[in-house]
Formats: sequence, structure tokens, C-alpha cells
Amino acid sequence: MRLAVIGGSGLGRLEALEITERLRPDTPYGDPSAPLVLGRLAGRELVFLARHGEGHTLPPHRINYRANIAALRECGVTHVIAVAAVGGITPAMAPGILVVPDQIIDYTYGREHTFFEGGESGVTHVDFTHPYSDVLRRCLLEAGAAAGVDIVDGGCYGCTQGPRLETAAEIARMERDGCDLVGMTGMPEAALAREAGLAYACLAVVVNWAAGKAEGIVSMAEIEANLALGMEKVKRVLLGFTVSLATPGSARRTPDGPDSGPR
Ligand code: HPA
Repeated sequence: MRLAVIGGSGLGRLEALEITERLRPDTPYGDPSAPLVLGRLAGRELVFLARHGEGHTLPPHRINYRANIAALRECGVTHVIAVAAVGGITPAMAPGILVVPDQIIDYTYGREHTFFEGGESGVTHVDFTHPYSDVLRRCLLEAGAAAGVDIVDGGCYGCTQGPRLETAAEIARMERDGCDLVGMTGMPEAALAREAGLAYACLAVVVNWAAGKAEGIVSMAEIEANLALGMEKVKRVLLGFTVSLATPGSARRTPDGPDSGPR
């Protein structure tokens, strides 16, 4: 396996990564958000990509998701952990906690959302019943347990277009739809990873109550504070994840195991 981490808001770089190389692969879809940073984390090879660009310059709707996934695939990546900041909708999704969601609802529009454009290559449909890799999800949950970081197992991620936050009525509708979390970058990233045959899971950090779920308006200061605390936890989980992969004879499940297919 070759592991990549896509870092979102609050995770523009991984300080603990011993960098060996920076690559900017050419893709038929244009440039990825940033150079791919190759290196070792806890002795395990890892590729890091800053989703919003190195200086956090790309808003969610301007990210070239196709170029990002194509670049990772070109670089030999097989497994992707996507880190994302989200708002909490349902009661268990309080600010400060980490979640490994298991479902997605896509509310985005106007994004380049597929590699399969028809024409001479034919019409292709991929199964997306379970949008996240079950094996990778379980590895993340186990890494969290080993690192002493609580992670909520499961939840539905609703992906909105942004960059504005939602209205209270939009969040109420999303809750009726079954969403537990709201973010702006989970799609089409997850679907493109599936089309590209990459195993993909999301590690979400709840940084605020979604619109209408707390008194008053959404506070940017609260988001910033929870982002900083949450990303420290994310780094501990990622470190635990790579340590368990790098430990010879580790009893823990690894994505290289017999059930390591992309799903
Ligand atoms: N809505 C959408 N995306 C987000 C939010 C939110 O409340 N918080 C962090 N990302």
C-alpha cells in the first residue's frame, strides 16, 4: 500500500513528516492544489497534499479535486486519509470531537465531479453504496483507540457548496435528510477516489455547531480555537496509524491485510 493524507483547513502541513521529495505531477486535469510532499512519518512512507493549497488560498469550490486525486494516483498512492473540518448537526457531534463518517450526501453543484466523461471511453458507473473504505475506517478507529483519542464511529457527512456557511433552515433540512455533519470538501473528492480505485476514508474534526444548532451565529473565533485543538488530536491519530503500520509483526489490522481492497 502507499498512504496519502489530504490535509484540510488547519492541517496545511505535517510538522512530524521527514520530507524526502516534493512532486508536482502533470495530470490531464491540471495542477493539484499544492506539490505532493513525500516523506516518512514514524518510519512509514507517506504522501501529504494540502487540499486548500500551501498558503490556504483555495476555497472549497475552487479546489481541483480531479487533479488532486489524479496526481495521488499517478504517484502510486493506493490509500487516502482525508482530514476535514466540519460543523456538527446532531447532538453527538459536539465541537472538539473527531468522527470517522460512514455515509455522504452531496449538496454541491458546478464542480468537476467525475473522471468518466463518456465519449470514446464509454459510459462508466461506479458503485458508491458505501462511500468510504471500511478497512481504512476501522484502522483509523483503532489508531484513535491506541492513541487515547475518542473518535465517533459513523455519521453522515453532508457536503455543501460553500464558501458561505449554511442558513439555519438549510441545516434543519440536512438534519431531516439524515446528515450528522456538514462540510464543504468531502465531495466530489470521495467519489473521485472511488472512480480512481483508491481506498478512501475521512477523519473529520467538528469545529462548530452548525447554523441554528447553538445560540446566536457561528463564531469564527470558536472555529479557529476548535480547529487548533482538533488538529493536534488528528496528528496523534495519524502518528498512531503510521506507527501501527510500520511495526513489524503488529497484531493490529493493516490495510495491507486480506481485506485490503479499495472498498
Ligand atoms: N458548515 C460547512 N462547513 C463547515 C462548517 C459548517 O458549519 N464548519 C466547518 N466546515
